[in-house]
Amino acid sequence: MPVTYDVEAVRKAFPALLEGAAHFDGPGGSQVAAPVADAVAATLRAAVANRGTVTRAEQRAEDIVMSARQAMADLLGTAPVGVVFGRSMTSLTFEMSRALAKSWVGGDEIVVTQLDHDANIRPWVIAAEAAGATVRWVPFDKETADLPVDRVAAELTDRTRLVAVTAASNLLGTMPDVSAIAALAHDVNALVYVDGVHYAAHVGVDMAALGADFFACSPYKFLGPHLGVVAAAPTLLESLHPDKLLPATDAVPERFELGTLPYELLAGVTAAVDFLAGLDAASSGSRRDRLVASFIALEKHEAGLLEQLLAGLADIPRVRLHGCPSRRTPTALFDVDGLTGIEVHKRFAEYDVNVPAGSFYAIEASRWFGLGDAGAVRAGIAPYTNDDDVDRLLTALRKIAG
Ligand SMILES: Cc1ncc(COP(=O)(O)O)c(C=O)c1O
Repeated sequence: MPVTYDVEAVRKAFPALLEGAAHFDGPGGSQVAAPVADAVAATLRAAVANRGTVTRAEQRAEDIVMSARQAMADLLGTAPVGVVFGRSMTSLTFEMSRALAKSWVGGDEIVVTQLDHDANIRPWVIAAEAAGATVRWVPFDKETADLPVDRVAAELTDRTRLVAVTAASNLLGTMPDVSAIAALAHDVNALVYVDGVHYAAHVGVDMAALGADFFACSPYKFLGPHLGVVAAAPTLLESLHPDKLLPATDAVPERFELGTLPYELLAGVTAAVDFLAGLDAASSGSRRDRLVASFIALEKHEAGLLEQLLAGLADIPRVRLHGCPSRRTPTALFDVDGLTGIEVHKRFAEYDVNVPAGSFYAIEASRWFGLGDAGAVRAGIAPYTNDDDVDRLLTALRKIAG
C-alpha cells in the first residue's frame, strides 16, 4: 500500500503555525490541531452536566467520556475500560505508585532506569521508600545512550515487583527494547510500567506487543490537550484499590479518576486521535487500522527529516551531538562549544526557531550522561515539521555557532 503523507496539508490544520515560528519544541508539548481546539470550544459552548442518562446535558458528558476512552483504546491497542484519565502523566503515575505500593513489603524490589523522565522514577522511589522496598537502578550506555536489555536483566530478581521503563527518552530519543525487557520482567512475575509520553507522539502503540502492563502517555504531546492517560488491563485495574472518596463509584476505570473529569479536554482527546488517524490520507478501515497506517506514514516522514537534521548538525563545526542510540525518536540533543544551552536557545529565538534547552525533567539521564542539571539543546521533529523548518534550524545554527 502506498504511504501518503502530505505535510503541507497537515500544517494547514495548525493555526499556531501562522505565527511563523519553526517549532522544534514538540517533545515539551506539540502544537494543537484545529479540530482539537474546535472540539474543546464546542463542548464548552454546549449544554454539559455531570455524567448521567436523564437529561441531554448528562448524556452529552457521558458520550464524551465513552468516546474518549474508545479513542485512546484505539490509539494504544487496548480496551476502553482499561483507560484512565487524569490531570497529567505525572499525577497519574504518583497515584498508581501509591495504589501498587499497598501490596509491597520490606525486601521487595522496584527497578527504575537512569534513562527515564523523573515522572517514571520519583513516584516509584518515594512509594518504595514508604513501603520499605529497595530501588534498583539500571544505568544506560554513556556513549551511545542505549539502554541494553542485559543491564535491566542484571537488576531483576525473584523479589522484583515492578519495572518502570521508558519506551522513549524525551532527552536523548533512545527507544529501549521494551518488549524484551517486559518479557524478562514477566519471567520474574514483575509488572511493567511503561512511560510512553515521548514514544506515543512518534510511534504507533501496541500495548500487547510492548508487553506493557501499564502504558502512560499525555495527549498534549500528540497534538491534543493537556491531560494524562494511563492504560492497563481491566483485570489488573480491578486488583488495585486507590484512595477514593466514599460516594465515588468503585467501578473500573472510574475508581482511579479523582473528582470530575475535564469533559472539554476529553472531547479534544477524541479529536486528536481522529486527526492522527487521518495523517495518512489514503488509509481506510477502522480507526485502529487508520491509526496503524498513519503512524507508519508519520514515522517515515519524521525519519527523513531526522536524517536531514542529523546530517546537517554533523556538518557544523563546534556543534556536538549527544548520543547515537540504535533505535530513536526524531529527537536530537546537542551543544554548541563555547555557549550554554540557554544561550543557544535564546539565539535560536532571534531567528524565530523554537529549540529549547535543559534536562527536561530527565534529570537522572542528564546527570548520568555528564550534562549535569543544565542538560543541552533539544530539537524535536513533529507531525507538522517540514524540510523548510529543518533548513531554518540549520541555517540559524550555522550563524549561532559562527
Ligand atoms: C518522557 C516523559 N515522561 C513523562 C512526562 C510527564 O508528563 P506530564 O506532563 O503529562 O506529567 C514527560 C513530559 O515532558 C515526558 O516527556
